[in-house]
Amino acid sequence: TWPQENDDDVDLEELIASLPKEKGFISPIHILYRNFWCPSGVFPGVHSFSRHFTPHDSDIILVSKPKSGTTWLKALAFSTLRRDVFPPSANNHPLMSSNPHKLVPFLELSIYGQAGELLDLASFSVPRLFATHIPHDSLPESVGQSGCQVIYICRNPLDTIVSFCHFAPQVKPELWSGGRSSMEEYLDYCCRGIEPFGPFWDHLLGYWKASLERPNKVLFLKYEDLREDTAGNLKRIAEFMGAPFSEEEERDGVIEEIVKLCSLSSLKELEVNKTGKHWLAENKTFFRKGEVGDWVNHLTPSMAEKLERIMEEKLSPFGLTF
Ligand code: A3P
Repeated sequence: TWPQENDDDVDLEELIASLPKEKGFISPIHILYRNFWCPSGVFPGVHSFSRHFTPHDSDIILVSKPKSGTTWLKALAFSTLRRDVFPPSANNHPLMSSNPHKLVPFLELSIYGQAGELLDLASFSVPRLFATHIPHDSLPESVGQSGCQVIYICRNPLDTIVSFCHFAPQVKPELWSGGRSSMEEYLDYCCRGIEPFGPFWDHLLGYWKASLERPNKVLFLKYEDLREDTAGNLKRIAEFMGAPFSEEEERDGVIEEIVKLCSLSSLKELEVNKTGKHWLAENKTFFRKGEVGDWVNHLTPSMAEKLERIMEEKLSPFGLTF
């Protein structure tokens, strides 16, 4: 639990000064807030979202730890949910001109945070589609109490770490000295639970347990499964969102169209994703290799073993393996 803050005029500087802090890798510091390590750059947005968001029962919130397949899930969920208005085969589909992060904004960044877009919640189509990186037990109480749905995507922590170590130095080069030693240091911090929105085991287990307890409200996906059977998992996503594909749509190849539209190779080649920017990150940094098991090319056996031991200890007892 964390202290409840009822006063709207909380002095953020004072609050931050009172909270535990550690070295950061994407923001100068990590702040321990509501039991997770929050990158200081998103702290004001996380704080504001936590206190002011009023969910609707029909809201759908996409959740992930950074570098777990967030961008892909946003593209798939958006194009599936809005396919009546934007057919996936249309040349002017919004994904052709907007990065997925623009179409499905992060609550703590684009709506309550500092990404500078100042999005107006009243202008959102219903059901509203949002995203967040916040762990389950740290979400605003109002989210748990509402009827809103959550789609969670996770990924093998070894691959997530490698992905992050390619991403973060492009966004914040000054926080990375480079090479294997940086990756080793970051991995050490992750093993201690100190990483954006970590510890990773709390993040994964919070949504895993919630999906077992409330399967109609929380859908738990793995990046690896989505890679292996994108169409099959897309059908699950559509059904979960209350927008199942009709037999006619299946016959007409709508599922395959969405899969293709949202594929890494398609999105990566779009001008908007080669040149645009989402807050501090260039759009192109969100699209790399998308390979399952790429960690073997970057982590030494002893680095991998260290993390695998923690996964074995923390995740396996709950039936969560990669
Ligand atoms: P790699 O760095 O392993 O290539 P996030 O979207 O959560 O930031 O995660 C980024 C990771 O997802 C990157 O992994 C990126 O290449 C991969 N990714 C991005 N778009 C994808 C897509 N359309 N399909 C599959 N993987 C995708």
